[in-house]
Amino acid sequence: MNRGKECVVVGLLGCGTIGSGVYHLLMKNHEIISKKAGREIFLKRILVKDIDEPRPFKVDASLMTTKPKEVIDDPEIDVFIELIGGLKPARSFALSILSKGKHLVTANKELLAHHGGELVSVADKNASHLMFEASVGGGIPLIRPIEGSLGGDRILRIMGIVNGTTNYILTKMSEERCTFKEALLEAKNLGYAEANPRNDLEGHDAASKLAILSSISFRAGVTSSQIYREGIDRIRPEDIDNARELGYVVKLLAIASLNDGEICARVHPTMIPLEHPLASILGNFNAIFVVGESAGELMFYGQGAGSLPTSVAIIGDLINVVKNIDRLPDSRSYWSNEAKMGSFDEVITRFYMVLRVVDRPGVLAKIADVFGRNKVSLESVVQKGEGREAQIVLITHEVKERNFQEARRGLEGLDVILDIPSVIRVESA
Ligand code: HSE
Repeated sequence: MNRGKECVVVGLLGCGTIGSGVYHLLMKNHEIISKKAGREIFLKRILVKDIDEPRPFKVDASLMTTKPKEVIDDPEIDVFIELIGGLKPARSFALSILSKGKHLVTANKELLAHHGGELVSVADKNASHLMFEASVGGGIPLIRPIEGSLGGDRILRIMGIVNGTTNYILTKMSEERCTFKEALLEAKNLGYAEANPRNDLEGHDAASKLAILSSISFRAGVTSSQIYREGIDRIRPEDIDNARELGYVVKLLAIASLNDGEICARVHPTMIPLEHPLASILGNFNAIFVVGESAGELMFYGQGAGSLPTSVAIIGDLINVVKNIDRLPDSRSYWSNEAKMGSFDEVITRFYMVLRVVDRPGVLAKIADVFGRNKVSLESVVQKGEGREAQIVLITHEVKERNFQEARRGLEGLDVILDIPSVIRVESA
């Protein structure tokens, strides 16, 4: 890589799986990248934790330093690519970069989901470009299509499979009828799930991504703490079988909608009809289904993680920043305004529920009474099993979350109910 007079100088913060992929692409496709950016791109310095750590792609060690100041405070660097992840020290690095009027490309979903409003306001004040295509959906173009191509429409609803690890586990449980634990072990062996996969399994990763998508789609600052969240660890192979028998598949969905000016955002396991476009998204792939008021239904599909797919999104942002480096960036001032969130209790959805009950006359009548008193109407009821115990598998009609949870508490208090092993929300569109 040569350093021409007109070049744009780049600093890389973090050089693990993604960072080394970015380096690899910058070297391999250097000519085409610089041509598209309209200026020569010169990678000057790389901040790392450990120079000798193993990386999927070989990186020139002479560019590396373990001293943050040698990169962050280098006055020659125009554009920084932040791939450290997490909040500390990424937030202070990002604020320092943006407050100096330098430009930032980041893949850091947590940072944006927690501090998006703060970052965009510092970026706006200092005319800094801030790009984050890789923060949601890895290599899937999503942020710029929503902000740009769909910029003239009102987004009404987003429904996405935004976590590859959980989608891999649910697909494996569905295809091979294995348990959650077995599928998780396989995901770990294949390197999909991290050593401590709580972030993925409990829905934190998906909630961060949904906070970003909601903020740019509904033009208000949504943080991950405002998102209702449930993970997939309680899904049983029986639920996946029941879902299939009933014509559904179970997915961990990130869902956000705008109703009467209020945003409702939630992440939870969801049963969707087998014919829904998201039902066919298998393995570790991601897909995001977007409904625009005028554009109608759209779906974005692809690799939601991985070194090279994510690196492509980062390089795309870098090209965009370099191309527009002398222009004022578009403001995202809306992000500093706290979003008006609707109450999760008011969400209307359907529910799948499994009740383990004592099998004797009058049991169904007692259950029906609790549902009736709480205005929960049933769409289908199937009794399974024989002997002294039975399982009742039911699906409700649309009902408010509050009413359903009230009915659930009522059922838990009935002496004929032994256990409620499963409750999963059901979405149609
Ligand atoms: N842990 C994430 C996933 C990786 O499984 O999708 C990309 O954010």
